[in-house]
Amino acid sequence: MRVGVLTGGGDCPGLNAVIRAVVRKGIKDYGYEFVGFRDGWRGPLEGDTMPLDIEAVRGILPRGGTILGSSRTNLMKIEGGVERVKDNMAALGVDALVAIGGEDTLGVARQLHEHDVNVVGVPKTIDNDLNATDYTFGFDTAVNIATEAIDRLHTTAESHHRALIVEVMGRHAGWIALHAGMAAGANVILIPERPFDIDEVVAHVENRFKTKYAPIIVVAEGAHPKEGQMELASGERDSFGHVRLGGIGQRLAEEIEARTGKEARSVVLGHVQRGGTPSAFDRVLATRLGVHAIAAVNDKDFGKMVALRGTEIVRVDLAAATDELKTVPLERYEEAEVFFG
Ligand code: F6P
Repeated sequence: MRVGVLTGGGDCPGLNAVIRAVVRKGIKDYGYEFVGFRDGWRGPLEGDTMPLDIEAVRGILPRGGTILGSSRTNLMKIEGGVERVKDNMAALGVDALVAIGGEDTLGVARQLHEHDVNVVGVPKTIDNDLNATDYTFGFDTAVNIATEAIDRLHTTAESHHRALIVEVMGRHAGWIALHAGMAAGANVILIPERPFDIDEVVAHVENRFKTKYAPIIVVAEGAHPKEGQMELASGERDSFGHVRLGGIGQRLAEEIEARTGKEARSVVLGHVQRGGTPSAFDRVLATRLGVHAIAAVNDKDFGKMVALRGTEIVRVDLAAATDELKTVPLERYEEAEVFFG
């Protein structure tokens, strides 16, 4: 059997660990051959490949990014895209695909499966917002990076009696903000799931200044105020229709400074959260997902995504995984709110 592997969407620490596990088990246990498709769905669409054997995956376990490259190509928006993928797979003798990605990449995988393409999905995203899996790899690393950054910002904020607003990733789901904010003792955490009241945020900030501690506000990039409270700029869209975010931290800093008279600065962690070496947790999770994904291929159990449930890796329908996003439930936010102010 010849198996194609691709990584799509935003990169995340642990992608290489999955690729390595898929290839190592596939060759050792099943005698498969592999083809690496470059840059997400662009690879099979254009027949752009690279060799993928034991040698190609040596030493990549701790490396961030993806040796295959990534893109946000949405082949469902391209006329004849599905047929081109099928033709390229046939020409290359590729019988099945392992697609490693988030909601967009796996959404395409699901549609391809409906068009009789043999595909197994592996969930990835630092946002941790994929349904049907308890955690996605990349999230733990991103939370650790953000937590370390917030720890460092505490001391400089206190020295200068400033408010610091830390903007983290999280377009629709505030998991990174919630976890990093809780781990690092944020003054307030703002997430997309809960439109915030700017008056309450300002009250928390003022309260923290009274106690002589400088406030740190952790805000997910997709967080927004209650209707009519603050004007926000809107950005361009990618091929999956997502707005390019960024800017809420700066807007909050301006608003807080104007309302409190205290200096407020914003720090955007941005792609730092996605770069570099994966945490030990993410390396193990990614490796286990890779091992189970190629086992699903070997069982011809296509149209599935491998997922973490508790401590076990299970298989779920791609449809169940991509139907709706896993957002932060109210009860989880209420646990964090205990420490606001
Ligand atoms: O999907 C993961 C993610 O990191 C989101 O948190 C963020 O909104 C988006 O990707 C940023 O995408 P890009 O790297 O294309 O700007």
